[in-house]
Amino acid sequence: MKISIIGTGYVGLVSGACFADVGNSVLCLDVDERKIGMLKAGRIPIHEPGLDALVTRNTQAGRLSFSTSYDVAVEHADIIFLAVGTPPDEDGSADLSHILAAARSIGQRITRPVVVVDKSTVPVGTADKVRAAIQGELDRRGAQVEFAVVSNPEFLKEGAAIEDFTRPDRIVIGSDSAHATQLMRQLYTPFNRNHEKLVQMDVRSAELTKYACNAMLATRISFMNEVANLAELLGADIEAVRLGMGMDPRIGPHFLYAGMGYGGSCFPKDVKALVKTAQEHARPMRLLDATEQVNEAQKNVLFEKVARHFGGADKLRGRTIALWGLSFKPNTDDMREAPSLVLIRSLFAAGCKVAAYDPVASEEAARVLLAEHGPERCAGMLRIAATAADAVRGADALVLVTEWKEFKSPDFGMLARELAEKAVFDGRNIYAPEAVAEAGLYYEGIGRRARAA
Ligand code: UDX
Repeated sequence: MKISIIGTGYVGLVSGACFADVGNSVLCLDVDERKIGMLKAGRIPIHEPGLDALVTRNTQAGRLSFSTSYDVAVEHADIIFLAVGTPPDEDGSADLSHILAAARSIGQRITRPVVVVDKSTVPVGTADKVRAAIQGELDRRGAQVEFAVVSNPEFLKEGAAIEDFTRPDRIVIGSDSAHATQLMRQLYTPFNRNHEKLVQMDVRSAELTKYACNAMLATRISFMNEVANLAELLGADIEAVRLGMGMDPRIGPHFLYAGMGYGGSCFPKDVKALVKTAQEHARPMRLLDATEQVNEAQKNVLFEKVARHFGGADKLRGRTIALWGLSFKPNTDDMREAPSLVLIRSLFAAGCKVAAYDPVASEEAARVLLAEHGPERCAGMLRIAATAADAVRGADALVLVTEWKEFKSPDFGMLARELAEKAVFDGRNIYAPEAVAEAGLYYEGIGRRARAA
């Protein structure tokens, strides 16, 4: 099939490369010339395991190409995916300007029937707006071309996006057109093997499904973070509680991890957008308000622990805290809404220096921190280390922020020698408290008893 994908972010690029890999002819468009220039030169603008090889293989085979031209993209395709960003507006609602601009650009150019697919996460009712934008342009041109607008939300997790795309647990198609549904079913056939994964519904239900999923997952995390904070006060261990809960098939073991609060490009934005949609319909979602509030507070829990350990925030001045991990989760260089940024902000405000290491996100983190704090403050307060061991050298304490694999089994003896105050704060509960304490280190996790050295 001939497909064009508008927007070469995570969703667009991964979807494009995966569709090309099963034999489709895919053209990826972005208005960002720098991005398209990079892709044409064989460089991938984001870090996603396996994506580099996938893009290269399909580009070389002639199944995947890149362009900044809407003329080329619209001419190319029978199916056009919209995978542009929907960043939050100031009031939390999703900003639809990119998606509607893309819709208008399509309407200005189509000359033969086309199926337009919303893959971006968009508020309920957006497909209607996309349809109206395309129709408006057709009317302006006095042209009559058949088209359908379909909602096909993505459920990709960064760091596992290719696996999620090629082995989906579900394929949601929201469509009011039998022809478009048929075409989408055909397109997804290579990924819909062994047992039926495609669920077809009306457009609005598909749009809401995506928000409901992310909102529930975010709520689950905030719930566990609240239980964790209580467990700490009760002398219980959230890791034991998590295991006991996860064995109930109605609850299941996934997404029950207490930590530093959720971050990333989806949960914070989508929760805010759904809260806003509910408010607009005079049907506030009180649970989601709480989910958000709990998450904001949770991002500060590690700082509070560090400050308490040293006798108060005012005692932190001049100290150096080492951070392991900066990205919002492992296997990505994405720093959007990363809890590490909140922690660094609080540490800087307390006059604390930060020595940070991340296996992949260092460069992106430095860029974001420089923009936020300015070159002078960063030069004096921030050291980006080249290795994990280098970050702890000369530091007072270590905070584990992101659970990258390479942090899972560190040399605790080395940490005990290097850290002046011999303290480890485990923001993801990846260490066995006893093992850390035995090495002569103070240990504190999330939702479990602290251990003296
Ligand atoms: C998410 C959804 O999982 C995906 O379906 C959707 O399409 C996009 O948003 P992603 O943002 O890549 O994917 O990350 P995810 O792995 O879901 O984690 C989100 C955040 O929750 C991270 O900050 C993570 O650290 C945190 N998290 C996750 C927890 O704190 N505890 C958990 O148990 C799971």
